[in-house]
Amino acid sequence: MIREFIFDVSKEYPLLARDEIISCFKSEGIQFELIKSNEDVLILKADVSNEIICDIASRVSMSFSIGELLFTSKHSIEFIKEQARSHSIEDKGRLAVQYKNRSDTVESKSFVHAVADVYTASRLVDLSKPDQIIHLLITPNNIFVSEQIVQVDRSVFERRKAHLRPFFSPISLHPKIARALVNLSQVNDQDTILDPFCGTGGILLEAGLMNISIIGSDISEKMVKGTQRNLSEYNINSFNMFICDISDISNHLLNPVDAVVTDFPYGKSTSLQGEPLEELYQRSFHSIQSVLKPGKKAVIGSAIKHIDKHATSGLKHILSYPLRVHQSLTRYFHVFQKAP
Ligand SMILES: C[S@@+](CC[C@H](N)C(=O)[O-])C[C@H]1O[C@@H](n2cnc3c(N)ncnc32)[C@H](O)[C@@H]1O
Repeated sequence: MIREFIFDVSKEYPLLARDEIISCFKSEGIQFELIKSNEDVLILKADVSNEIICDIASRVSMSFSIGELLFTSKHSIEFIKEQARSHSIEDKGRLAVQYKNRSDTVESKSFVHAVADVYTASRLVDLSKPDQIIHLLITPNNIFVSEQIVQVDRSVFERRKAHLRPFFSPISLHPKIARALVNLSQVNDQDTILDPFCGTGGILLEAGLMNISIIGSDISEKMVKGTQRNLSEYNINSFNMFICDISDISNHLLNPVDAVVTDFPYGKSTSLQGEPLEELYQRSFHSIQSVLKPGKKAVIGSAIKHIDKHATSGLKHILSYPLRVHQSLTRYFHVFQKAP
């Protein structure tokens, strides 16, 4: 049955949040129709079970929760009541009506009470341990009323932050960014991902936790050993790691990979040994293109915005996302696709 699903997305990186969700559906080959996407919500139509929605929730890092949309209301008590009356819900046990207010000007209480009046009549209410949650997402333009399917446990990303791992360096990405980049590459658990500038292994760790086969390499032995330590700490024991320059990675691989997800070195990296960054970028694109399967994606972080001018002609630039990695540092993440 085709249903409408609503994702409560992080305002921090709305484009990334949108594309991460879309990529998850595509990587699993699920047909969907995008209905709406803005900095508050993403709504899509698909014929998928709640179980699959829960799997997607366990993958994404830029959404807070996923629900089945019941209706959308304007900011009118009469209207929201009328809508609630005409959208009946199944009785699944003890009920709670919850809300999140993303508007500075709209007052939430009266809308929550209006919906609760309709849905809790002749139902058992339990605000602390409900079996069923009706959720109001109050935004500046609309109120989205849904039945919650799953909450995304975003605390796991905070608990895996780089400085909490055995091997740490300030170059590490925040796990929620690393996770979103892995998702953008549209891999699933049958696929293999390569990070040829693995550093402390933040990207490989997120991919490994999603049961994706992982291959990592770095020119620095210290980084490769550190990555192995970090992976073992999270019980990821199946991986291939090499100490090598980016240009030599193809010599180590038996087969082409399904995705490359990586974060190019910063301009000041001592490991560059005086090589101009542009030259390293060109060598890197050449190598990445040679190890990637046709039609597959490379997601690449860099310090510069217009990295596409260094890319090889066989890698098509699809999109770029500027992301604030630290307070004073913006990195650009670029999606490329190898010609089919
Ligand atoms: C920005 S860091 C990657 C950070 C990583 N994403 C993380 O979360 O820790 C870039 C890495 O590229 C490595 N590197 C620099 N030049 C290289 C080269 N020519 N070939 C392979 N690796 C290189 C550095 O040792 C460094 O670990």
